[in-house]
Amino acid sequence: MGGWSPVRRHRGEDLLDSQAMSENRLLLTCGLPGAGKTTLATRLAAERRAVRLTKDEWQWALGSTPWDRTTGEKIEQQLWRLAQEILSLGLSVVLDFGLWGRAERDEMRTVARSLGVGVELHYLEVPVEELWRRIEVRNSAPPWKGEPITRADLDDWAAKFQTPDASELALFDAPLDAR
Ligand SMILES: Nc1ncnc2c1ncn2[C@@H]1O[C@H](COP(=O)(O)OP(=O)(O)O)[C@@H](O)[C@H]1O
Ligand SMILES: [Mg+2]
Repeated sequence: MGGWSPVRRHRGEDLLDSQAMSENRLLLTCGLPGAGKTTLATRLAAERRAVRLTKDEWQWALGSTPWDRTTGEKIEQQLWRLAQEILSLGLSVVLDFGLWGRAERDEMRTVARSLGVGVELHYLEVPVEELWRRIEVRNSAPPWKGEPITRADLDDWAAKFQTPDASELALFDAPLDAR
C-alpha cells in the first residue's frame, strides 16, 4: 500500500498552507518609556492573534508600581515562563517588557529558537524630546500621576539603554506582514 494518492497529497498541502499562515512567533517590543511599545503591542496582538504580556500592566494591577524593580523582576520571570508555555502550545506571544539590555534580548531569542519558533524584535526609536512630550502627558493621569517619571529619570535611562544595532537586528526574524 502507500501508493500515491492525489487526494491525500492535496489535503497535505492544505494543511501545510494553514500551518504557514498560523506560524507562531515570539514578538518583542523594545524601547524607552513613551516610545509606544504598549500601543504597538496591543496592535500586534490583534493583528497576529497573539497573547500580549505587558509587564507594567501586571505591576500596576498587583498594587505595585514600575519603580519597584524587585517586584518587577519577579513579574517578568513569571510572564517569561508563561510566554514559553504559550509558545509551546503553538500560539504567538507579544512580550512587552522594555528590553533595554542586549543580554535580555539575546536570551529571549535563544530560548524562542530552542522552542522552534521565530522571534521578531520591534524596536521603537523615538527622539528623547518626543519621549518627554508623551511622558509628560501620561504623567498627568492615573496610574502614573502619583508616580511620575521626571526628565532626569528619562535622561538617565536614555544613557543606559542599549540600542539594538543593525547587526543585532539582523539576528531576528523579519516581521511577517499583518494578516
Ligand atoms: N506612534 C505614536 N505617535 C504618537 N504618540 C504615540 C505613538 N505611540 C504611542 N503614543 C502615545 O505615547 C504615549 C506612550 O505610549 P505607550 O504605548 O504607553 O509607550 P510605552 O509602552 O513605550 O511606554 C501614549 O500616550 C500613546 O498614546
Ligand atoms: Mg508600556
